[in-house]
Amino acid sequence: MAKLELIATATFGLEAIVKREIEALGYRILQSENGKISFLGDERAVVRANLWLRCADRVQIKLAEFHADTFTQLFEQTKALPWEQWICMDGQINVSGTSVKSQLHSVPACQGMVKKAIIEKLKETYLIEEFPETGLPFGIKVAIVKDRVTLSLDTTGEGLHKRGYRKHPVAAPIKETMAAAMVSLSFWKPDRLLVDPFCGSGTIAIEAALMERNIAPGLGRRFWAEDWEYIPQALWKEERRAAYSAVDYEKELRIVAGDIDTSAAQAAMANAEEAGVDDCIQVKLADACKLAAKEPYGVIITNPPYGQRIGELAQLPPLYRHLAGFLKENPTWSLYLITADKEFEQHMGRPADRRRKLYNGRLETCLYQYYGTRPPRE
Ligand SMILES: C[S@@+](CC[C@H](N)C(=O)[O-])C[C@H]1O[C@@H](n2cnc3c(N)ncnc32)[C@H](O)[C@@H]1O
Repeated sequence: MAKLELIATATFGLEAIVKREIEALGYRILQSENGKISFLGDERAVVRANLWLRCADRVQIKLAEFHADTFTQLFEQTKALPWEQWICMDGQINVSGTSVKSQLHSVPACQGMVKKAIIEKLKETYLIEEFPETGLPFGIKVAIVKDRVTLSLDTTGEGLHKRGYRKHPVAAPIKETMAAAMVSLSFWKPDRLLVDPFCGSGTIAIEAALMERNIAPGLGRRFWAEDWEYIPQALWKEERRAAYSAVDYEKELRIVAGDIDTSAAQAAMANAEEAGVDDCIQVKLADACKLAAKEPYGVIITNPPYGQRIGELAQLPPLYRHLAGFLKENPTWSLYLITADKEFEQHMGRPADRRRKLYNGRLETCLYQYYGTRPPRE
């Protein structure tokens, strides 16, 4: 198998978690910065990373890195690469790009030049006059920083957050990758109760269950590289089979997901069923203001309304005050709450034990962490 340099892309702020996930798969990290984690692998690593990474956005193969400050240099060095290794005779080529502090600053012009060079090379190699672009999609990324060009090939297709279980959407859902990251960042363990009192479509509860039952997040979907000749079909089959046998169906979990909205509660239930984890998530139609603790050491991981929709803003302070009162009465409980509301801590009446700036899509948010006392044996 070929030695490949792979890049997992991630939301800013999640690099450390993705790095940990890659290391847990057994691959060596080369570099981690600004939403990109590079690691060494092979074709099997492409398959495993797509199937198993819970918090990354996509997996790319780095094809080349070179200096270019003219379009001729960009064209010639791009054309010199063995594109026929990766792209089939009728592949649809989509080039996206970025350029920072570089002579070649027009991104559309760079994208156009890269695409032209690839097509020229493929026409020459396949001995064809026209390149039809009617077949499989291929995504190429051209990233230029200070005249250094990196070309990479997307193996994922639709972002990794699209697990395939969220068939019943609600308004303002959190990305599955972000929900998984919130669970990873928490102290929740399966012997504790996990509660999401603002569950919406159930993403946080479902991601927690998938994680603890060791269900690979990519098992229910396909990836672009799955149709490529470059990666043997046998690898996908073997790794999917291995992922199925790794599932821990017996693991007992206690997860409660509540929402005040009937359609949200129904969506959460249906999505949990779609994800195959409905047996460990109890969905309740409930007002978060009535949240009560029946046992100690529970963990709340949640994403309340951000107050960006009309009428929502006024409802938030009483909700936050209730949470604050709940934590005061139940000092063994912990809270992990993500919001874009900068006044959150003021409403809670005390600063968080830890905050972490994260981006939910383009929105700047913060994960506020309030730690309860730990169980004696931890
Ligand atoms: C930002 S959404 C949560 C999205 C969810 N994380 C997902 O991925 O789908 C906030 C949810 O809080 C619910 N909500 C608002 N006020 C509530 C309350 N007082 N009690 C319980 N749920 C409430 C809304 O119905 C909405 O579904």
